[in-house]
Amino acid sequence: MARAPLTKLPQPVFHEPIFGADGSLPDPTGFSTSHGSDDALYKQIGDLATKDVVAIPKSRIGDDAMFSLAEAYGHHGPEIVKQITHAGKIVFHALGDSGASNAGKYPNELRVADQVTLDCASSAEADRAAFLYHLGDVVYNFGEARYYYDQFYDPFRNYPAPIFAIPGNHDSFIVPGTRPADAPLKTFQRNFCSKQVVITPEAGSLRRTAMTQPGVYFTLDAPFVRIIGLFSNALEDPGVISNLDKKRKWPVSNIQIDFLRAQLRRVKQQKFAGALLLATHHPAFSYSPPSKADGTGGNHGCSTAMLRQIDTVCQEEGVYPHAFLSGHAHNYQRYTRIMDFGGNEINVPFIVCGDGGHNVNALVRAQRGKTAVEPVASADVGYLDQSGVAKVKHLLLAKYDDHNYGYLRIHVDKDYLKIGFHQVGLQSLAQSRYDMVTVRLADRHMVAN
Ligand SMILES: [Fe+2]
Repeated sequence: MARAPLTKLPQPVFHEPIFGADGSLPDPTGFSTSHGSDDALYKQIGDLATKDVVAIPKSRIGDDAMFSLAEAYGHHGPEIVKQITHAGKIVFHALGDSGASNAGKYPNELRVADQVTLDCASSAEADRAAFLYHLGDVVYNFGEARYYYDQFYDPFRNYPAPIFAIPGNHDSFIVPGTRPADAPLKTFQRNFCSKQVVITPEAGSLRRTAMTQPGVYFTLDAPFVRIIGLFSNALEDPGVISNLDKKRKWPVSNIQIDFLRAQLRRVKQQKFAGALLLATHHPAFSYSPPSKADGTGGNHGCSTAMLRQIDTVCQEEGVYPHAFLSGHAHNYQRYTRIMDFGGNEINVPFIVCGDGGHNVNALVRAQRGKTAVEPVASADVGYLDQSGVAKVKHLLLAKYDDHNYGYLRIHVDKDYLKIGFHQVGLQSLAQSRYDMVTVRLADRHMVAN
């Protein structure tokens, strides 16, 4: 049954952030708001999704400032951070592309959301995820306010921890004719970048206060780990973080480059010894076969210019992240970039986890009448790495899964960063860890799990 359009609810300011319902709520069984086909709209948009970038809103805090996990937790924050520090490790979830845009997709989103929620409920305290980091594409197809309830708040209604997010293209692309007040990024900011601890109209009667991150790009500072999240803008492809792409001058500002530089500088000055992660919705690497005869790549390709800009700033500042996380391509891909950085050989995982509920796409699409040629395990795919800035020895496609939904469960302690990919079964809530990569923080080498 169609739900009435969202009406403006009173927005009381809470003294404490709230991250999930106390007790259980019935499972959502379907959309409350009718969601028709967007096919006609896509036709009308034409190729705008390949060229219409949006302005990057400036963060509320300074380029070198960070948003702490303690702040997100409110009054209990210092105590929670103390507990995590005392446990000697932090665990968190990450996933992308969760929004279900039609009823057929909805059970897949619910299974993934239920699985991360169940993981929190069933884990011992020291192993319980401290937060979920959403890698973008929260609400399909165009980040509409009226779909936030169905696609975000209801599926994650019992997730008992903060949910941070960087916007994906579907959270930011502006459909022509949209009123400025209804621009999707405004809705995203209302729900994830709120100045106050409020329940937004999009959450309806559910008990999750808006996240209070300072912007659509920000550094999350948690015990043992920092995550620098950048907004890679509204295009289907490529990811755009600044106007520094020499081939195409995108009409956006360079504030994220200044921000990235300031954050890397801070890491260096403070001799930060924890894990440094970098998150963008669009992936730096996404597979396509070396020859067209073997088929074509999946729905999304590599964002090479974006990576080149990141590599350049990292090289200039002498700091390179321990791992990269992204979504966008609807599957799981794990690359190992073996590179020479500052005179040392380092191994950097580049991970795509864009199978959080919306869809799962094959890595290779076959040519008509032929069979797709899938890559072999640990294939050297150096041809995908066209950044040209970093001294890259090899780029390996270490592992992938293009058949299952799933999420990342990430563990960081003072010595190691461990990133596990968990498949979500279609028939049950049984979970299995399909892949795991472990990086030793000190020398940036991968070690056996
Ligand atoms: Fe996307």
